[in-house]
Amino acid sequence: MQAHLPLTSLPETKSVIACEDNLSFMEKLSDEAIKLIVTSPPYNLGKEYESRGTLDAYLESQRKVVGECMRVLHPQGSICWQVGNYVNNGAIVPLDTVLYPIFREQSLKLRNRIVWRFGHGLHCSKRLSGRYETINWWTKSDDYTWNLDPIRVPSKYPDKRHFKGPNVGKLSGNPKGKNPSDVWEFPNVKNNHVEKTVHPCQYPVELVERLVLSMTEAGDAVFDPFMGVGSSIIAALMHGRDAFGCDTVSEYVEIARERVAKLRAGTLKTRPMGKPVYDPALPSGGH
Ligand SMILES: C[S@@+](CC[C@H](N)C(=O)[O-])C[C@H]1O[C@@H](n2cnc3c(N)ncnc32)[C@H](O)[C@@H]1O
Repeated sequence: MQAHLPLTSLPETKSVIACEDNLSFMEKLSDEAIKLIVTSPPYNLGKEYESRGTLDAYLESQRKVVGECMRVLHPQGSICWQVGNYVNNGAIVPLDTVLYPIFREQSLKLRNRIVWRFGHGLHCSKRLSGRYETINWWTKSDDYTWNLDPIRVPSKYPDKRHFKGPNVGKLSGNPKGKNPSDVWEFPNVKNNHVEKTVHPCQYPVELVERLVLSMTEAGDAVFDPFMGVGSSIIAALMHGRDAFGCDTVSEYVEIARERVAKLRAGTLKTRPMGKPVYDPALPSGGH
């Protein structure tokens, strides 16, 4: 399993963070400069940072952003779009399904629809409580950067061996661990989470770390067009990638800058990748 870099040895990295609309920010990025675009856009739910419009108007604004992302995306690059549901009068619209055609229009190829499962959220009374969102992973070409080893997770039975055939007695699994699969479980950032800020909809740094480690190399550039308080920026810098991000709310941008400064000073707290999820059914929650 990938260990965290000791923060004292944080590699030389560049970060550019702006309080700016993403379309105007991207005008300053060169063609094909970015290896990974990772983001969680607004869901058109009327949160404090967005005005709720029609679904069609929302999709049109996403279409423009995705189109410009294509221009700045490296030929071997990936786009990861993390979304949940838009809810209208109790009826849900899973946003990845209505965004799908927008990405296909750009000839992007869907490599995985990752299900991010988490434990906390609103309790619904007229339908089941929602406890997952998705990350659609798109690539620009068939020749894309992909490194599985840094994100392997411990095998369930690491000592399991072949019991017949030419490899009898040899380990049957990869000693470096197994593929983490397309269902991920990370706690979402609620009040008791170590990364919680004033932002109402942060995603956890460890979720982005997996994407950064597998879809980029050290020194590559990562961009978040809806950066919030900079969780993607932190994940990129932690692993020696350059980071670019923007958000239109100055309070969030200020917090993102403070988080980067703390990261560079070695004082930022993040939930470590690979830490087991609290399980109340196990003695001491499984820790
Ligand atoms: C779901 S939040 C992202 C939170 C982020 N993943 C984090 O962990 O902090 C979406 C963000 O998009 C920002 N936003 C909305 N419209 C934008 C635009 N046109 N350009 C840049 N940011 C925008 C909002 O202010 C909000 O912070």
